[in-house]
Amino acid sequence: MIRFISTEETLAIRNKMLREGKLHLDKCRFAGDDEEGAFHLGYYEAEQLVCIATFHPQNKERFVGKGYQLRGMATLTEFQGKGIGNRILNFAIVYLRGREVNYLWCNARKAALKFYMSIGFEIVSDEFEIPGVGPHREMYLKIQ
Ligand SMILES: CC(C)(COP(=O)(O)OP(=O)(O)OC[C@H]1O[C@@H](n2cnc3c(N)ncnc32)[C@H](O)[C@@H]1OP(=O)(O)O)[C@@H](O)C(=O)NCCC(=O)NCCS
Repeated sequence: MIRFISTEETLAIRNKMLREGKLHLDKCRFAGDDEEGAFHLGYYEAEQLVCIATFHPQNKERFVGKGYQLRGMATLTEFQGKGIGNRILNFAIVYLRGREVNYLWCNARKAALKFYMSIGFEIVSDEFEIPGVGPHREMYLKIQ
């Protein structure tokens, strides 16, 4: 089941899956997490939160219309490969379309490129390094 969740509820999975469990939970917050229009989605399997994704209103100059940045997307290891990430993103796409958002973009880790491509995202940048995290590519998905 997919639910809207708070920033606080995302922090443990962000830390475990995206920061190797090394950070104090408060350091797993992103600037913009609690800004107007930002929201977080969680996927629950038998009342356990197993997948999270965050959406910040954030335009990119080179794209037309209203944009959102996808951040902090992660599924707990034992729940990966079951289509949960796909379901949460497709829920978000329908929701954002209803809010007249034109596109979604993200900085995707190399290991997740294929996953985002399977949703319909395209690669729109060369590879670049995010210090401490690794190689990324910017990806773009037109919503409407
Ligand atoms: C990237 C990530 C979020 C994907 O989440 P997920 O819940 O595993 O996503 P899905 O199950 O929808 O899709 C993953 C793969 O499983 C496959 N899959 C989906 N349903 C499946 C099923 N029923 N049986 C077998 N495989 C399936 C998908 O085809 C997809 O394959 P792909 O890697 O070739 O695209 C997850 O792997 C993750 O958390 N990784 C670590 C953190 C990370 O890198 N986050 C991204 C930061 S940019």
